[in-house]
Amino acid sequence: MQHLIETQQFDREALSKLFALATTLEGKREESLKGKILASLFYAPSTRTRLSFESAMMRLGGNVLSMENASESSSATKGETIEDTIRIVDDYADIIVLRHTEVGTAAKAAAVSEVPIINAGDGIGQHPTQAFLDLYTIEREIGRTDDFHIAFVGNLAYYRTARSLAYLLGKYNKVKMTFVSAPELRMKDDVKDYLKEKNVHFEETEDLESTMKVADVVYQTRVAEEWIPNEEDYKKLRDKYVITRPMTDVMKEGAILIHPLPRAGEIAPEVDDSPHAVYFKQAGYGVLVRMALLKLLANGEKV
Ligand code: CP
Repeated sequence: MQHLIETQQFDREALSKLFALATTLEGKREESLKGKILASLFYAPSTRTRLSFESAMMRLGGNVLSMENASESSSATKGETIEDTIRIVDDYADIIVLRHTEVGTAAKAAAVSEVPIINAGDGIGQHPTQAFLDLYTIEREIGRTDDFHIAFVGNLAYYRTARSLAYLLGKYNKVKMTFVSAPELRMKDDVKDYLKEKNVHFEETEDLESTMKVADVVYQTRVAEEWIPNEEDYKKLRDKYVITRPMTDVMKEGAILIHPLPRAGEIAPEVDDSPHAVYFKQAGYGVLVRMALLKLLANGEKV
């Protein structure tokens, strides 16, 4: 049995196998997980992650137990700990997908669970399956997972998906990273220390326009209101890096603009028609990657 908690735990050979399987599942409906049950426990809001996991399970013939808004609708409101909840739900389901507001909750769940736990986001910690689908998007859209330049933009301090992908890319060769952010939202030291250990070349800048001209992948993020309590600071930071159509028009040929979504104004709507904009495709790839993951985990295979 394997839990998916953080991206540092995976190796590139396993992910290469996962991505190859994901591609074979495009457009497929199967009965391979008939009789298996996925429980999705979401203590924090989600559209893509919960629904794409549930869609993935259903496309494989499995069933779904879904608890959205669990912080208000579950027995957590009566004081039940996450450990006790997991000890119960692991009798009801074969795989548990868990999103929570607090860093470390998925690890706590994994410590007591008799079935695989998939971390679907723990506060500002990590969101590993989003990083998998981000990397899968890069592989499909630029044709390689080594030897490219990625610019992470905006809210790097609090954006778990950017953190997860940066950690994951530490496993790949000749990946150059540029972190573009205001000083208040710089990538945190845990990620930077890890990248130094792995000899990954990275630099920090506030200059988005120049970076967009040279990057192969631009990864935009949302400046999330929940992490910046002062409204004036929030508005200033939110408006600092809005990507517009003229900015994408100067991107390199074949370069891509990705975003885990949801967006809240940081990519202007007219960018959607740019040949560089692949964020809606990226969200669609999430179903394929999650189908592949569920197939492997439900059959007891290592990812
Ligand atoms: N990318 C992502 O995690 O989206 P949701 O919050 O909608 O699940």
